Amino acid sequence: MHGIMNPILVTGGCGFIGSHTVLALAESGWPVVVLDNLSNSSPRVLERLRELGAPPLEFVQGDVRDASVLDALFARHRFEGVIHFAGLKAVGESVAQPLRYFDHNVGGTLQLLQAMDRAQVRRVVFSSSATVYGDPAQVPIPETAPLTATNPYGRSKLMCEDALRSLHQADPRWSIAILRYFNPVGAHPSGRLGEAPQGVPNNLMPYVTQVALGLRPHLQIFGDDYPTPDGTGVRDYLHICDLAEGHVAALRALQAQGLLTVNLGTGQGVSVRSLVETFAQVNQVAVPSQVVARRPGDVAQCYADPQLAQTRLHWRARRSLADMCADAWRWQTQNPQGYDSTP
Ligand code: NAD
Ligand code: UFG
Repeated sequence: MHGIMNPILVTGGCGFIGSHTVLALAESGWPVVVLDNLSNSSPRVLERLRELGAPPLEFVQGDVRDASVLDALFARHRFEGVIHFAGLKAVGESVAQPLRYFDHNVGGTLQLLQAMDRAQVRRVVFSSSATVYGDPAQVPIPETAPLTATNPYGRSKLMCEDALRSLHQADPRWSIAILRYFNPVGAHPSGRLGEAPQGVPNNLMPYVTQVALGLRPHLQIFGDDYPTPDGTGVRDYLHICDLAEGHVAALRALQAQGLLTVNLGTGQGVSVRSLVETFAQVNQVAVPSQVVARRPGDVAQCYADPQLAQTRLHWRARRSLADMCADAWRWQTQNPQGYDSTP
């Protein structure tokens, strides 16, 4: 890249995926402005980004549902585009608090799109999820697979996808990338950026790292009677830095294309058991586990057909499962309390 580039607005830029994407954007020469209400992240992320040579041009602590905050931001900067990560993501919580999920995820996205339209910034990359495929009829899953929602979180993602598709149909000036992430894990190899869940982790990898460190007694494997090779659930884990680079690739692809809907995954299905075994072997650390009942709502297998991302974005995941395990462990050991660890 060359010349002076207009900044990218990253909503939710202090979160797990957002922070790694801010770094990837900086590495590609893109100035970044971050909007985050810090409801699920730490302001210390900004110090770490500075340390890594990727300080945002501006950080605004504010809510994506707040039109006045958005209008002020769009008045101050001429954005090249927006990457929209801000939202809530805990499936179980979405079942208990559906209105809150629709408010943040759907309401927030609609406020953002309206502010973008007012400011005539019509390039957006949206965080969707493989959850929109529900219990997939076939794996690997192509983007053309049927879409469905099995919980309010998934429904909120589908509603946003629908709004974006309608918007593109109504006004071809919009360029929109809908990225359906599979299972992002790992951390930046520096050990300075990573995933810092509050309370008990919902997801497998942060749970594994906390067990390996002795913060929790053992991993519960949710079911070993699925119709999979070893009976445990199969997912498509991808390295967070690969995922971050996928966003840079999507922004570039949008300079020439109108509506892109792509899976971001490796295309490799990995079972819970094989992830745990790889983690233990790569890091030479024990991960005690016991098999318990299936977790309600879980599917047996979910992994991507990653072909379209390769042809449309010229992107593919390059880092291995061993890299994901090594980097997740480095982050956990160097930051046992997440961003509240010293220094
Ligand atoms: P995260 O919680 O780490 O990051 C989200 C960020 O958004 C946080 O920093 C939070 O403080 C902020 N935020 C939340 N609501 C906000 C609001 N109303 N206004 C401003 N900021 C707000 O989550 P993540 O894992 O980085 O996920 C980012 C996006 O990707 C989310 O939209 C999520 O649904 C989606 N996604 C995540 C995964 C995953 O496994 N992590 C998978 C698929 C899709
Ligand atoms: N698992 C365990 N024990 C745990 C946690 C998870 O055995 O303590 C198993 C699950 O049963 C599943 C696999 O590990 O087989 C992965 O579980 P995660 O919770 O890490 O991820 P999911 O695939 O269930 O869900 C993730 C995101 C969702 C998103 C979905 C599809 O958390 O938000 O991917 O993108 F919708």
